Amino acid sequence: MKILIAYATTDGQTRKIARFVADRIADLGHGVELLSAADGEGLEPARFDGAILAGSLHAGGFQKSLAAFARAQAEALGRAVDAWLGRIGG
Ligand SMILES: Cc1cc2nc3c(=O)[nH]c(=O)nc-3n(C[C@H](O)[C@H](O)[C@H](O)COP(=O)(O)O)c2cc1C
Repeated sequence: MKILIAYATTDGQTRKIARFVADRIADLGHGVELLSAADGEGLEPARFDGAILAGSLHAGGFQKSLAAFARAQAEALGRAVDAWLGRIGG
């Protein structure tokens, strides 16, 4: 199984969490790709069996790059998005 983790971070915490989750998925023997949501252009979603989107709240909203990624990939990832991951609260 190949899993995509697309993340956005403002202060770096979500990147660390996404990396931790990616390592655990790899430990289970699955393929995993960690991608900054800002670098999603040209992504081929068909390569993935599942997807996790990760971001953090700042002033009540997720990062614009994550929202843009979700909008741009909604149709392609619709069948594959399995989780949203976010650390909420300080
Ligand atoms: C300026 C600022 C605004 C924040 N606003 C929210 C918020 O509206 N809701 C919330 O639950 N957490 C809020 N937080 C907490 C962050 O979501 C939390 O620190 C998170 O771990 C940051 O993740 P990041 O380093 O990946 O950006 C805020 C933090 C900061 C510094």
